[in-house]
Amino acid sequence: MDLRGDFVIIGSGIAGLRAAIALAAAGDVVILTKAGPAESNTGYAQGGIAAAVGPDDSPELHADDTMKAGDGLCDPDAVRLLVTDGPRYVRELLEWGAAFDRDAAGQSALGREGAHSVRRVLHAHDATGREIARVLWQRVAPSPRIRVLGDALATNVLMRDGACVGAAFVDAAGVAGRVEARATLLATGGAGQVFRETTNPAIATGDGLAIAFRAGARVSDLEFVQFHPTVMQVAAAPRFLLSEALRGEGARLVNEAGEPFMQRYEPAGDLASRDLVSRAMVREAERTGAPVYLSLAHLDPAFVGDRFPTIADACRQAGVDLARDRIPVSPAAHYVMGGVETDADGRTSLPGLFAAGEVACTGVHGANRLASNSLLEGLVFGARAAAAMIGPPVSPTLRASRVEDVPAPNAGASLPDADSVRDLMWRRVGLVRSREGLHDAVRSLTSWWGAVHAAAPDASADRGFHRVSSIVTAGLLIARAALRREESRGGHFRADFPGRDDLHWKLHVADRL
Ligand code: FAD
Ligand code: SIN
Repeated sequence: MDLRGDFVIIGSGIAGLRAAIALAAAGDVVILTKAGPAESNTGYAQGGIAAAVGPDDSPELHADDTMKAGDGLCDPDAVRLLVTDGPRYVRELLEWGAAFDRDAAGQSALGREGAHSVRRVLHAHDATGREIARVLWQRVAPSPRIRVLGDALATNVLMRDGACVGAAFVDAAGVAGRVEARATLLATGGAGQVFRETTNPAIATGDGLAIAFRAGARVSDLEFVQFHPTVMQVAAAPRFLLSEALRGEGARLVNEAGEPFMQRYEPAGDLASRDLVSRAMVREAERTGAPVYLSLAHLDPAFVGDRFPTIADACRQAGVDLARDRIPVSPAAHYVMGGVETDADGRTSLPGLFAAGEVACTGVHGANRLASNSLLEGLVFGARAAAAMIGPPVSPTLRASRVEDVPAPNAGASLPDADSVRDLMWRRVGLVRSREGLHDAVRSLTSWWGAVHAAAPDASADRGFHRVSSIVTAGLLIARAALRREESRGGHFRADFPGRDDLHWKLHVADRL
């Protein structure tokens, strides 16, 4: 099937949908989305969306918290845009009918999460992403100018004379198609599935990253992966995120003896930033030789059930009681701070190709994302990218990065199965990294990448192949970046270089094929 549109968007999460709403005012939009249209990380978002709307808050305070969490690598201009434009876009969601929780005075009820100095997280109980997606779909679905192709897996961008002119895809029946358009937006979300343990759904395989990299775009900051501390670990039950908002409302991490332990490791205790909490949990588990747990037993059960109905239900299905039982938890890959490098308007290093949301690296998160800033980024930068796609072509001003050329691989080993790659990534490129493990990972991944390359991703209609291809490519880019950065900062922790080293590493490194 060959189509034409003015704009093509790959992905139907918060960034893609917000962009589509803006683009439909200027032309015909085609959205390609690889699974059911409603499937996205956005739909699973629990804790909420951060915005400086409270009486004790300000964009400056929000910027401060964002930059502290980012551990010295946030782009201050991008952060300023996020925090100053954020409240306007969140109010727009409310005007469009978002049913966020309200306090007794009828104002938006604000939740607290780690590393925020005030309450600033708007939420719809514990299913905020579902509510935001509902509101956005209500505007996208009836639009005569937006065509949504579900089960349409984008496999590549179309390049002509060095510029992006659309995307190639494979439909549900395995038939290849193309959409030509004057501007293309990657809004493909994250890459959590690159790791064996993850909070992300099956769609999050880093496709946009792999597609952009193969086309020659710059990708940046990929060593910075966020591991969320509290993922439920109940035997035979699916892994399920236990939102940071639980700790924001008083839940505590406890050890086997029932003792709260976070204060011993971090002054901010249970609400320290995610990287610090995750590593403290690992150390406590190593110290005691036993799992660590999340406990809400000291809180009012009625409040817990009312505030967190979705999580309580998932716990019930796993055979545990959120309000009464201590629940075994451990960290899992959650969010990739790096991505396809963009300017503040979503322009990538390739003309005609834009990126927004988790796939993009705008610089707002630096080395570690502040909780609930991701939905906000998708909204603000989805809308900004749309405005730039409508406007005349402009060359991007990308941030000063060291750029490394990645050599094209030799044909290597045979294609791996995805689970072997995910297992290797978890063991060698996970929460605690070292030169030896990273070397080992890069060696295997480079050889697998050769096999992927030789099998020509452009030509294949096999979805299983594309899954492995993206996981290997994204995995290699993450592992290479982690091996290169010989310091610890934000989400990137090297046991062999445990300190932050501003003298040598206060910089961004971009990779390019
Ligand atoms: P997504 O919402 O992931 O959408 C990506 C879209 O691209 C999907 O529709 C997918 O199917 C499609 N796609 C991918 N590859 C292809 C392809 N090759 N071809 C076609 N389509 C493709 N952040 C917060 O700020 N607050 C929270 O409370 C929060 N809670 C979270 C809870 C969980 C369990 C998870 C997993 C994440 C959470 N996050 C939260 C992070 C946040 O949800 C995501 O970072 C954000 O939703 C990403 O939005 P996006 O639009 O960039 O991508
Ligand atoms: C959570 O609810 O803990 C996830 C929030 C986020 O990823 O920002």
